[in-house]
Amino acid sequence: MPELDSPQRQAPDSLMLTGFWYRALPAAHVHRDQLHKAMLLEIPLVIGRDRAGHPFALGDACPHRGMPLHCGKFDGENLECAYHGWTFDAHNGQCQLIPSLTADQNLKVDRIYAGSYPCEEQDGFIWVFIPEPGPQGAGFAKPEESPEPAPLIEKFSAKYKLAYLTADMPVSIDHGIIGLMDPAHGPFVHQAWWWRSRHSIHEKRKNFEPIPNGFRMSAHTPSSNSAPYKLLRLYAAADSITTTIDFVLPNLRREIIRAGKYWFSSLTTVTPITRNQCRIDVVAAWNIFRWLPFGPELLKFVFAKFVEQDRRTMELQAEGLKHNPHLMLIDDADRPAKWYFQLKAAHLEAKRTGAEMKHPITGPVTLKWRS
Ligand code: FES
Ligand SMILES: [Fe+2]
Repeated sequence: MPELDSPQRQAPDSLMLTGFWYRALPAAHVHRDQLHKAMLLEIPLVIGRDRAGHPFALGDACPHRGMPLHCGKFDGENLECAYHGWTFDAHNGQCQLIPSLTADQNLKVDRIYAGSYPCEEQDGFIWVFIPEPGPQGAGFAKPEESPEPAPLIEKFSAKYKLAYLTADMPVSIDHGIIGLMDPAHGPFVHQAWWWRSRHSIHEKRKNFEPIPNGFRMSAHTPSSNSAPYKLLRLYAAADSITTTIDFVLPNLRREIIRAGKYWFSSLTTVTPITRNQCRIDVVAAWNIFRWLPFGPELLKFVFAKFVEQDRRTMELQAEGLKHNPHLMLIDDADRPAKWYFQLKAAHLEAKRTGAEMKHPITGPVTLKWRS
């Protein structure tokens, strides 16, 4: 790939991809009979749980005059707008009642909808499907169906622990994602005496391959710097450890580490909140330290450090980005970032033409960098 020898100018467009599931809120924050505000892709949402505990998501604007619906009343089934009392089914958004109508006014109330979104609870998070922007004519649009269920964390035994971490990042989705996949910042951002120092930098080679909508780094190597890896090595022979890290559009990073009967599996997402703001959510499942009382806390401690270091870095980066500096991507350390932009472009092009997506990675590739 000769064009890759010189640095490539790269201006992230921070375009937010519709037609995908996104994590909206930690499930434990969403209680029955309560209404919560959330924002995804600059779309304000109201999220709650019905009487049976099933989550729902509606657009947070009444189709009558735009009153935020989270200000309304919820009886466990229907949501009543605080302004004129129009009432909507919490799940499909269908209007049930317009109190101002007289008996002889036969407006077809059931043809009016508050925008509703497919909503699922999965591995400790409420997920919301953001459909392609539909034709205008809001107020009468029926709810969209999602083509597939919300993403799952892969698990390899019946019993496991689950934990999550979340952090707001004051940068666009693109910077959030390429920061997540960036292999070269580790020695500089994630220094700690119990972890590593910048003097531990050494050359690495990793094998990558294309997978649907993304790419995979596969490794059977004991040289990984990943946190669960180091912990796992205490329990299993190093050469029995296998790891894979996948990135899949629009924002999913899956890491799976297996060593005999032990496993660790995480699904990290970077969710676009607005054009200039994203949120990182790490959810991990594992069966490694189930019997150790401090295991989950230890793992959470390590992850919390990492996420906080990344968050702080992006906070500082956001200052530098304010004045639109020119940016560049270099080889091979920034190749995953380039692939992300190429995947995004290929996805949008396929959507535009209706043709099948042309995968930008044609076969296995080995990347080299020092970190
Ligand atoms: S604005 Fe909601 S009922 Fe009028
Ligand atoms: Fe990081």
